[in-house]
Amino acid sequence: MSNALQAGEAVQKFKLEKEMELRFEVEPRQPLLLELLCGFAEVFGTELTRNKRYRFDTGAKAAVFTWHGCELQLTGRADVSYTARETPMLFYLNVHAALEQMRRTASRGDEDRGPRAMVVGPTDVGKSTLVRLLCGYAARLGRRVTLVEMDVGQGAVSPPGTLAMLSVERPADVEEGFSLQAPLVYHFGSTTPGSNIKLYNKVVSRLADVFNRRCELNRRAAVSGCIINTTGWVRGAGYHALIHAATAFEVDVIIVLDQERLFTELRRDLPHFVNIVLLPKSGGVAARSKEFRRESRDDAIRQYFYGFRGAFFPHAFDLRFTDVKIYKIGAPAIPASCLPLGMSQEENQLKVVPITPGRDLVHHVLSVSMANGPQDNVVEANVAGFVVVTAVDSDRGLLTVLSPAPRPLPQTLLLVMDIRFVDLK
Ligand SMILES: Nc1ncnc2c1ncn2[C@@H]1O[C@H](COP(=O)(O)OP(=O)(O)OP(=O)(O)O)[C@@H](O)[C@H]1O
Ligand SMILES: [Mg+2]
Repeated sequence: MSNALQAGEAVQKFKLEKEMELRFEVEPRQPLLLELLCGFAEVFGTELTRNKRYRFDTGAKAAVFTWHGCELQLTGRADVSYTARETPMLFYLNVHAALEQMRRTASRGDEDRGPRAMVVGPTDVGKSTLVRLLCGYAARLGRRVTLVEMDVGQGAVSPPGTLAMLSVERPADVEEGFSLQAPLVYHFGSTTPGSNIKLYNKVVSRLADVFNRRCELNRRAAVSGCIINTTGWVRGAGYHALIHAATAFEVDVIIVLDQERLFTELRRDLPHFVNIVLLPKSGGVAARSKEFRRESRDDAIRQYFYGFRGAFFPHAFDLRFTDVKIYKIGAPAIPASCLPLGMSQEENQLKVVPITPGRDLVHHVLSVSMANGPQDNVVEANVAGFVVVTAVDSDRGLLTVLSPAPRPLPQTLLLVMDIRFVDLK
């Protein structure tokens, strides 16, 4: 479907007064076109251009908010679309204003760095949306905020199984999301931090180090600060991972969405100079099923190889077993009494284990590590990109992979993810 109006499609018009929003969900295979007819409106921090048709695809859930009033048009089938007056947008704008005030103080030289903020809360409360909004508002003021993506399941910057950092130059595109030029990406290997929490915390510390170094070299990045997105896992080890991240990044501000208990715990466990605020979630945030999450992870991987809306075509080629070195990070947990003398469980979880390619590797996503060899610090090396194994021929010693770029691979050290992608195209 193009962005042009198709025959027989329903057209709905909405008139919104100031500080109202139009919410909608896109039905399977029934894309929706959104158009701003007059006034001003924005989608998660990105201003809409008047008389331009924006297309929203299957599964999209979005809200168009207006500060001053507007008229909108939706084309296509929108079974779930309604306008709402009750939104937490004023609270969110106040957070943005407070962060911007801190940036101004830093740029005057009264503070050596701008705000480092982290958004936390249980699943489906609008964390990623608020992060996108705050990054968008900062970019509209000419700031260069660093988005730190710690959600290894539904990240906005890189495929599942990774953590990443992105310098946000402009608000996210309404249809496509953030422009992904030169993100810095790290391998984790699974979609839940709990599968190897030691590795997760280690990579978070690494991100914090790299961000600190960037701030030393780049005054604008230091003044703009960072906004950290987190996963919805807020209990037990997940909670400790949040405390770890807050400490590693030396965050100044934590925004807790929708959970008083988490707010109280963080206030109890973090130093008093960390500003912790509790804010409501938007009534529009939709809960997503396990199935939906799995599908959107699959879409994110497909998009990595095929581009947004299939704009690119990946390459397929063979690699000789002898040309590459394949590893997995983390050996399976073994009882403490069985560990070699002097080795802790922690070291075991960070161990770089060589893998012999076999049929069980088919469909696995592999990270192409920037490490030169196992003697390098593989755990803390960033990744150049990803390939997916489509076939293994043990007799001939060949591995067939799907890759976004033609051969040769930029590096030969590959890290196995516990994530599969079946290429059906
Ligand atoms: N005001 C709103 N109106 C309608 N839909 C919204 C609104 N805010 C967010 N959404 C949608 O709700 C869904 C969930 O939001 P979001 O991804 O921000 O939640 P989250 O807390 O980050 O979830 P997770 O725990 O999975 O990371 C998204 O599809 C988002 O587009
Ligand atoms: Mg999220």
